Amino acid sequence: MDAAKAIIILLVKPDLEPDCIIASDTYNFRDKARLMAIPTTSGTGAEATWAIVLTDTNENRKLGLGTTECMPDVAILDPVMVTGMPTQITADTGMDVITHAIEGYVSTWGTSITEGPGLIATRKTFEYLPKAHKNGDDLEARKEMQNAAILGGMSFGNSMAGLGHSTGHALGALFHVPHGRAVGLFLPYTIEYIINGSEETTAKYAEMARFCHIASGSDKECAKALVAKVRAMANEIGQPLSVKDCGIDKAKYEEAVPGLIDRALNEVMTMTVTRVPGEEDLGKIFRYAYEGKSVDF
Ligand SMILES: [Fe+2]
Repeated sequence: MDAAKAIIILLVKPDLEPDCIIASDTYNFRDKARLMAIPTTSGTGAEATWAIVLTDTNENRKLGLGTTECMPDVAILDPVMVTGMPTQITADTGMDVITHAIEGYVSTWGTSITEGPGLIATRKTFEYLPKAHKNGDDLEARKEMQNAAILGGMSFGNSMAGLGHSTGHALGALFHVPHGRAVGLFLPYTIEYIINGSEETTAKYAEMARFCHIASGSDKECAKALVAKVRAMANEIGQPLSVKDCGIDKAKYEEAVPGLIDRALNEVMTMTVTRVPGEEDLGKIFRYAYEGKSVDF
């Protein structure tokens, strides 16, 4: 779907380089064609966003592009299209959904319009991702994950993703970890980081935990329960809980940390959270996530 959004622009500008697609330009490709999105995974929510993520294989980086024109005209959600999705891809893309939903919900660019879809998508993912993972032919679970994915897209697509995405993108680009697996891995660490520095967002995480019937009690307890629930679900569907679990060599990772920090700092999603980390904190987050250590700073 992301490729289609970039390719359709070539209809009107055949010589355009992908990294020159910018939000402020007008392309008017609809004189020639329309964009219809039929997702075959339940993850990116690209059927409901104008975002385009492409991989620059020469420079080992992900390009985050887009223009509002690239919002699909039509999205068709048919659970039959995803029943054949392999177990590992169900897990990876499902972790992308939970990350969009939670990050879209707490984004500093969010509004009450993005909060509703974020809440529902989070609750549905906790309930149905393990079921869809366990039995790919469970049409109800597949349908609810498809709905959760588009709701997650509507949430972060109208606000912004957050730190789990900027750190996860960096890991994905340098170590070729699939998008959803990478962002989902960093999600609990980055929530912990924000809990430690923002009462405002801690209260929002707590609201989510209560809405999902995960916990009751103080904001801090509920927010921490949300983190624990993300980790428990990831574990249940066989996802890595640390960078080490991804099979990445420690020395190679350590060598890459400055590059990881640099990439994360260049992402807008590092700035759309209530606790914006600098170079030093990002380095610590990357190192804690390698070891699987809860963020305590
Ligand atoms: Fe994502």
